[in-house]
Amino acid sequence: MIDLKGKRALVFGVASETSIAWGIAQKLAAAGATVTLGYQKRFLSRLMQLTKDIPWIEGKFECDVAEEESVQRFFEEAPGDFDILVHAIGFAPAEALGRPVIFTEQKDFETAMTVSAYSMIRLARNALPRMNAGGSMLTLTYLGSERVVPGYRIMGTAKAALESVTRELAALVGQRGVRVNAISAGPIKTLAASGVPGFDKILGWMAHCAPLKRNVTQEDVAGAALFFASDLASGVTGQILYVDAGYSIMGVPPGLDALLSSQAAPGETPVQEARPA
Ligand SMILES: NC(=O)c1ccc[n+]([C@@H]2O[C@H](COP(=O)([O-])OP(=O)(O)OC[C@H]3O[C@@H](n4cnc5c(N)ncnc54)[C@H](O)[C@@H]3O)[C@@H](O)[C@H]2O)c1
Repeated sequence: MIDLKGKRALVFGVASETSIAWGIAQKLAAAGATVTLGYQKRFLSRLMQLTKDIPWIEGKFECDVAEEESVQRFFEEAPGDFDILVHAIGFAPAEALGRPVIFTEQKDFETAMTVSAYSMIRLARNALPRMNAGGSMLTLTYLGSERVVPGYRIMGTAKAALESVTRELAALVGQRGVRVNAISAGPIKTLAASGVPGFDKILGWMAHCAPLKRNVTQEDVAGAALFFASDLASGVTGQILYVDAGYSIMGVPPGLDALLSSQAAPGETPVQEARPA
């Protein structure tokens, strides 16, 4: 049983009940942590409704991670020291997601990079003086950082930068006893995901190909986040953990796998036909 009693978490990225950040916040709270939320103004009313009368929420303050002043104001408003920081933020303008990368405009590129990758640097810089030793920072990334996924486009470039930032920060803040890691989550239907063209098809394909034969849930990702926030991960920093039902390990789609198995040499047993004794 993981015990986070007395630990204080900062969670950025709750927009609705489907947000990965919301799943993580609930999981941290169930282990005993208290949570301060940083939210984007456009989700104010949704957030207030979602978080009304929840005792483990210590505070909720507006925070636009694209603006240094907004982030500084957040840290002025949120009192005390912290043990956990969760960055679950990503954005690219719809026009950029709708066009092949070669047509990406500079302003859209800059927005995607600022909001999705630079924001981790900005939050870490502002939070670090108030992070306790043994603290944990966590961000959320996606396989589009290293492979071409239809519709993900410039977000993949931003996620690649975010993963690099994770390693750079980990190397820098380790001497303060703070760890920095990332979860590369499989696709989950959230507000941000609905902006990715063809997302439902991606969901279906990934469930078809993944070893666990399903998509991951908010709960799956939150469980891994709890691990990173806890002392169980005390020796882990700068890592990207895939929480994707195993999709990322597959080199060929399952149909091809079955074809190869059916061509097994005499005396070999295709994996699908093997039965436990
Ligand atoms: N849903 C998926 O399939 C999936 C898979 C892998 C990784 N991720 C990543 O998980 C993270 C959370 O996304 P989600 O899927 O829960 O969607 P979501 O829409 O619930 O969360 C995205 C959050 O980013 C916030 N945000 C955007 N621009 C901001 C700004 N300028 N300032 C402050 N906040 C801002 C939004 O307010 C929202 O809370 C993102 O980094 C996303 O890329 C999502």
